[in-house]
Amino acid sequence: MKEEQKHSSGSSVLGLVIFFSGFIVALAVGWIVFPSLLFSERIQPINFSHAAHQDSTCEDCHAFRPDGTYTGIPQLDKCKECHESQLGQSESERILVEEYIAKDREIPWLVYAYQPDNVFFSHAAHKAKNVPCVRCHRDVAKEQKLPAYRENRLTGYSEGTMKMIECEECHAAQSANNDCGICHK
Ligand code: HEC
Ligand code: HEC
Ligand code: HEC
Ligand code: HEC
Ligand code: HEC
Repeated sequence: MKEEQKHSSGSSVLGLVIFFSGFIVALAVGWIVFPSLLFSERIQPINFSHAAHQDSTCEDCHAFRPDGTYTGIPQLDKCKECHESQLGQSESERILVEEYIAKDREIPWLVYAYQPDNVFFSHAAHKAKNVPCVRCHRDVAKEQKLPAYRENRLTGYSEGTMKMIECEECHAAQSANNDCGICHK
């Protein structure tokens, strides 16, 4: 009888040890391994430096068209205005001139803020209410190096995209419309 009791309490201690080791492994997978597996890093075609372009205004490159739509990232024609040949010594400018301008190829930028296809977003609506760019985007003005672009392997979307709750919180605070159909058409 005594022997048996000893045996069973020994195995329940062992059971607890096994349980907690499994638990810790599961936590590590959930917190450390899974997020790093979930995202893959993609490299931007060129390291664009906003800081090197401080002589231009934001609107020189990011403007509204007469019909109210937003131009977004400027096309190669804009870059050609100044970079038909190389101005400085940097490797990134060499790639711009040799790989894109000389070959007349558009630059396939990765857009950190891109939303899933079922979301409707309009810059004009926010411009009208003077919502500053940095409220929704990273602060690019003094940036010399583009941040890593992290893509969710399951959805294909950028990690940096704004989440629904962030849109809704501001809409609620500024009494803007929060009907589903405003953002999902
Ligand atoms: C010479 C042209 C040029 C000027 C001037 C310029 N930008 Fe840009 N901007 C770009 C290019 C090219 C990209 C794409 C690379 C990147 O993400 O930085 C970009 C990207 C951005 C993005 C990121 C979009 C995203 O989510 O990927 C924001 C925000 C932005 N610019 C804001 C600004 C602001 C604010 C200013 C003024 C302080 C400005 N830009 C001036 C060319 C320009
Ligand atoms: C109004 C003129 C102008 C326009 C338009 C312009 N750039 Fe520039 N860019 C400059 C100047 C000036 C420099 C700084 C040159 C130097 O001293 O190295 C520069 C530097 C650069 C560099 C090198 C930055 C570094 O040191 O790493 C890259 C890359 C670049 N530009 C890309 C672009 C791209 C892409 C576009 C189009 C979206 C563009 N530029 C549009 C004037 C311009
Ligand atoms: C209320 C939030 C918000 C504000 C304010 C805002 N943006 Fe955006 N921006 C976004 C979202 C969301 C996207 C992605 C849109 C999409 O997926 O179609 C985006 C996309 C962009 C892009 C990439 C577009 C493309 O397809 O090439 C640029 C460049 C940009 N924004 C610049 C700016 C600048 C400059 C300002 C300030 C004048 C600004 N944004 C203000 C939310 C915002
Ligand atoms: C920092 C505050 C803020 C954030 C963040 C924000 N919005 Fe807005 N949004 C506004 C304001 C203010 C208006 C203007 C409401 C009005 O005109 O009465 C607006 C208007 C809109 C409209 C036009 C509504 C209409 O009645 O036509 C759309 C669409 C929209 N937002 C989508 C989005 C999406 C999608 C996001 C997230 C990616 C977002 N917004 C994030 C403040 C914000
Ligand atoms: C102010 C803008 C806005 C409003 C209002 C809004 N959504 Fe969204 N919704 C988004 C954005 C942005 C995303 C994509 C980013 C994300 O997944 O968080 C999204 C994603 C979703 C998704 C995809 C699943 C997910 O979480 O990724 C569903 C489902 C959805 N919304 C349903 C709704 C419903 C139902 C309503 C009304 C109760 C609603 N949304 C109202 C902006 C909005």
